[in-house]
Amino acid sequence: MNNNISEIIKNRRSVFTNQFSGEKVPEEIIEEMLENANWAPTHMHTEPWRFQVFENQSADRLMDELARIYKLRTPVESFSQAKMDKYQLRKNQISHAIVIILHKSLRPDLPEIEEVAATAAAVQNLWLTLASYPGYGGYWSTGHLVYTDEFRQFLKLHENQLCMGIFYIGKIKTDTPHTPGKRDDWNNKVTWIL
Ligand SMILES: Cc1cc2nc3c(=O)[nH]c(=O)nc-3n(C[C@H](O)[C@H](O)[C@H](O)COP(=O)(O)O)c2cc1C
Repeated sequence: MNNNISEIIKNRRSVFTNQFSGEKVPEEIIEEMLENANWAPTHMHTEPWRFQVFENQSADRLMDELARIYKLRTPVESFSQAKMDKYQLRKNQISHAIVIILHKSLRPDLPEIEEVAATAAAVQNLWLTLASYPGYGGYWSTGHLVYTDEFRQFLKLHENQLCMGIFYIGKIKTDTPHTPGKRDDWNNKVTWIL
């Protein structure tokens, strides 16, 4: 494990499913990711993050469901068979898929944006933990399908819950080069108030 936090933050990349070998990521890493996610900051201690972890057969069912919703929700003129095929291919690429769920506390004194922020911070903890292990990677996937009623039903979400996407995890193929990443200079986003 690499302990230099600035290095881990800057080297964390989105690694996509076509860069995964299909091999499993050790369960201890997945558990460490989820445990660290749970240490995210949380206003009023509502701890609004929830995760559903899919692997093996359940990950296959998740891909089948996304393909089904894609077909159902996509107008014929914009339907792409290649996109449909992607869900099938993913079955042989991913190790785990973690569905990110916002569990709203419904406290009238806590704006929803603060619970969204806390859940995003939990995802960053999860992602940085994974990024500290060379050879493993993942990315946060959203897209309109994750917000549909059909997907909500599949996940059995309660009224106060919202899906915020899927975090795909895999072992990176050995010939994959590390992408350097790209950001505009931080100085351009900061105003020092004197
Ligand atoms: C909330 C959120 C949703 C995202 N959804 C997608 C997505 O649906 N598809 C995708 O390719 N990347 C998605 N990403 C990843 C971004 O594309 C990626 O973080 C960005 O390109 C910067 O690359 P890096 O993560 O390697 O630094 C998402 C990132 C965030 C924070």
